Amino acid sequence: MELKMVEVSKQFQNVVAVDKVSYALEKGVYGLLGINGAGKTTLMRILCTLLKPSSGSVTWDGKDIFTMYGEYRKLLGYLPQDFGYYPDFTVYDYLMYIAVYCQIAYCK
Ligand SMILES: Nc1ncnc2c1ncn2[C@@H]1O[C@H](COP(=O)(O)OP(=O)(O)OP(=O)(O)O)[C@@H](O)[C@H]1O
Ligand SMILES: [Mg+2]
Repeated sequence: MELKMVEVSKQFQNVVAVDKVSYALEKGVYGLLGINGAGKTTLMRILCTLLKPSSGSVTWDGKDIFTMYGEYRKLLGYLPQDFGYYPDFTVYDYLMYIAVYCQIAYCK
């Protein structure tokens, strides 16, 4: 398995959040470090297909991740820095809620 980034860039208006990042990730554990505003979250959102890069490509074993849809999403697990939840839900309630949501989303 290989997740490959080639010259991935993301620009928001006049801010270059990610600037030509190239890297190939193979099986293993990696850390993404940088000062506040370095572009870590933006890059992670691109790798999760939540944001499209302004330029460059991201491939999974040679396939463009933005054309893999569910096939790629099934491979992903992502815990974002900030996430929304319902404060009156228990953990069990929340897991049930997500399970039902996924069932609906994947059974279309
Ligand atoms: N949706 C957006 N619209 C405009 N600018 C954005 C947007 N998202 C991020 N930026 C800008 O892009 C740059 C990178 O932000 P990003 O959140 O990716 O950095 P980060 O490394 O995750 O920072 P932190 O360590 O604070 O979490 C920052 O200058 C930020 O203000
Ligand atoms: Mg961040």
